[in-house]
Amino acid sequence: MPLSEPIIFDGRVAVITGAGGGLGKTYALELARRGARVVVNDLGGSVEGTGASVSAADVVVDEIKSAGGEAAANYDSVSTEEGGAAIIQTAVDEFGGVDIVVNNAGILRDKSFANMEFAEIEAVLEVHLRGAFYVSQPAFRVMKDNGYGRLVFTSSNAGLFGNFGQANYGAAKAGLVGLSNVLAIEGMKYSIRSNVIAPVARTRMTEDLLGPFAEMVDPSQVTPMVVYLCSEANEYTHEIFTAGGGRYGRVFIGTNKGWFAGQGAVPSVEELSEHLDEIRDITEHIVPSNVNDELMLLGQMLADDAD
Ligand SMILES: NC(=O)c1ccc[n+]([C@@H]2O[C@H](COP(=O)([O-])OP(=O)(O)OC[C@H]3O[C@@H](n4cnc5c(N)ncnc54)[C@H](O)[C@@H]3O)[C@@H](O)[C@H]2O)c1
Repeated sequence: MPLSEPIIFDGRVAVITGAGGGLGKTYALELARRGARVVVNDLGGSVEGTGASVSAADVVVDEIKSAGGEAAANYDSVSTEEGGAAIIQTAVDEFGGVDIVVNNAGILRDKSFANMEFAEIEAVLEVHLRGAFYVSQPAFRVMKDNGYGRLVFTSSNAGLFGNFGQANYGAAKAGLVGLSNVLAIEGMKYSIRSNVIAPVARTRMTEDLLGPFAEMVDPSQVTPMVVYLCSEANEYTHEIFTAGGGRYGRVFIGTNKGWFAGQGAVPSVEELSEHLDEIRDITEHIVPSNVNDELMLLGQMLADDAD
């Protein structure tokens, strides 16, 4: 459907975590170019999450300001409760509130599961999953009071579909889908929309992992999808979008009709195994938007059974 108005962010305040480079930087620049006042958060560490530096965020803030935009830097880590609170407080202090949060900060500690140490599990969960809680909760409270908000969580095909050597990262990235789904439901009546992006792009995090695809997937190709999800025009919520190399799509969690054994029935394992084709057949499916949508499937079957 063609838009009647261009997508602009005048008067809106956006917080982008991990915006000192890679994908986050492209989101910050584009949102600022379209009128948002942007908090550029970045700890400025390595891909593995070690070290820190103020320069990553400062460079992006300078770039936004020299293009005539408004931005403020924040150097806190998303991975502590205090850090998350300080990031949102920067938006409130500098720009009077927060309308948009893109949870984008991330690190990698890849290793096969058998060899993964607990510290590597902990570090990745802390930045991606707990970090999203620490940043989004204070922001959600402000959004709820204001009756408006746009949240974007950054998942990954490694979490949605699985990837060798990324048990820690995949679990954290899949966890973000659960968080976004609940915030979409809790935020609905306050006009808070919450969605997930699964990007594919050449950045310092992926340049050695993407092989020949690296040349074909520029971070700027992900930007319009994320910027749209941040906009007032976007009314979609509880959804997962994939973007990379010019392909934009939707990833979804669905369920089929399955096999109904009958009200009160307790099939034997053998009986159940005879119905596995039906249980697994996804030709027809629904994409539930909350737990009730799935329960209604059962409710319908119970009602049909009683007839
Ligand atoms: N590039 C891809 O193909 C791809 C694919 C799937 C998911 N992702 C996700 O996209 C997001 C952006 O990644 P990218 O590819 O641009 O990599 P990147 O390394 O260029 O960007 C990540 C940024 O997060 C910052 N950061 C790390 N830990 C932080 C912390 N504790 N607090 C604040 N900032 C912190 C880093 O300094 C860095 O600037 C990540 O969440 C990543 O997992 C990327």
